[in-house]
Amino acid sequence: MDFDWLKRLMPRGLYGRAALILILPIVTIQLVVSVVFLQRHFEGVTRQMTGTMLREVVYLEALANAAPDLIMAKRAVAAVAEPLSLTVVLPAPQATGDARVFYDLSGRVVIATLREGLDTITAIRLATLSDVELTLTTRHGPMQISFDRRRVSASNPHQLIVLMLGTSLLMTLIAFIFLRNQLRPIRRMALAAEEFGKGRVVPYKPSGALEVRSAGAAFLDMRGRIDRQIEQRTMMLSGISHDLRTPLTRLRLGLSMLPEDEDVAALERDVAEMSKLVDAFLEFARDDAADGEPESLAPCAFVAQIVEDSQRGGLPVTLGVCQDEGTATFRPDALRRALENLIGNAVRYGNRAVVSVGLGPRALKITVEDDGPGIPPGQREEALRPFSRLDPARNQNKGQGVGLGLSIAADIARSHGGTIRLGESEALGGLKVELVVAR
Ligand SMILES: Nc1ncnc2c1ncn2[C@@H]1O[C@H](COP(=O)(O)OP(=O)(O)OP(=O)(O)O)[C@@H](O)[C@H]1O
Ligand SMILES: [Mg+2]
Repeated sequence: MDFDWLKRLMPRGLYGRAALILILPIVTIQLVVSVVFLQRHFEGVTRQMTGTMLREVVYLEALANAAPDLIMAKRAVAAVAEPLSLTVVLPAPQATGDARVFYDLSGRVVIATLREGLDTITAIRLATLSDVELTLTTRHGPMQISFDRRRVSASNPHQLIVLMLGTSLLMTLIAFIFLRNQLRPIRRMALAAEEFGKGRVVPYKPSGALEVRSAGAAFLDMRGRIDRQIEQRTMMLSGISHDLRTPLTRLRLGLSMLPEDEDVAALERDVAEMSKLVDAFLEFARDDAADGEPESLAPCAFVAQIVEDSQRGGLPVTLGVCQDEGTATFRPDALRRALENLIGNAVRYGNRAVVSVGLGPRALKITVEDDGPGIPPGQREEALRPFSRLDPARNQNKGQGVGLGLSIAADIARSHGGTIRLGESEALGGLKVELVVAR
């Protein structure tokens, strides 16, 4: 059996599902009780009461038939009618046929029971709901007997329904309130986890039911451990790089004291290379948190500013499509660093770069394209790794990098709950880098 359609109909949220689990049994019980109890039970009671009434009617009929003439019959019947609370008319006008109001369900049972028990009955009128009026044939002509309707059917079954509906509505309401209170801690935890995934730390304290609380505590532990790990890595990397700077400076100083010759020049180049590496290292190790708090900004204006700054720095960069509706939340300094690295790559390996901005419902996408050689699909993963420089033949005369630019950008994207995708630019033919971050 395929239950996909059922799954599609089910509410998706925990709240909706729990409410369904709660309401479904209540509605089912209501239906079962109404159908079985109300119909069966009230029908049975009505039949019983009508049966009792029927015996009195039969008794009256027998009295009337036993009398020798109409006068005697009238007298005999009147003598019992009073204590039995019946109204008797003898002789009565001839009447045939039954009548009841269409929604009078128990009336149907009353008529059926009376007709079954006594076949001299010619008419049963339940038209007024408060009286039963039946006509039967005796030896002395038609006799009409009327009595209170309450004597044949249990009164007010709808009171029970109203009570039942009212109670279950009240209980559902109470259950909803309880449920909401139980679900709130789960929702708060989901929110904290979601935000942490986007690199934002929101205050969160475990609360609610035992299981939710322990999941919340586990989440907090995890968050703390991840934060500590990042901090440790940063401290280690920046510590090493920083401590390397002093001996490097000393080396450079020492070299500059030596008389100029080829060997010394080579050594100086090496030292310069090492300094560059150390600088790049420090840049890489920079703590993300030091980039400040996330801000809600208009992404297009933000990117346009970076492009403009690069242009002033003499780089051949232009701004492409820039979707400028709505805002996104990110750490501007970090994103600027990532973008500058991507632009730097594009103009180093290509001759010009185009930056464009797209804003989706959940994500912000910044695309940097160039007209360089691009990166073949098989090498894209490697290019994103720290310290990986691809095939130096492709980078001729472009100056050697350290191999950290792309991994810095990827790191920043990840810390914003996003990622970096490498592809081929359709417009320019070179590399296309998509920097995607959660809004
Ligand atoms: N726009 C691009 N076009 C072609 N190849 C690229 C492009 N961007 C990066 N690459 C390749 O990916 C490699 C890794 O790039 P990455 O930015 O990480 O390091 P890098 O540019 O060599 O050094 P750094 O950015 O640290 O100065 C580069 O060495 C280059 O071969
Ligand atoms: Mg680079």
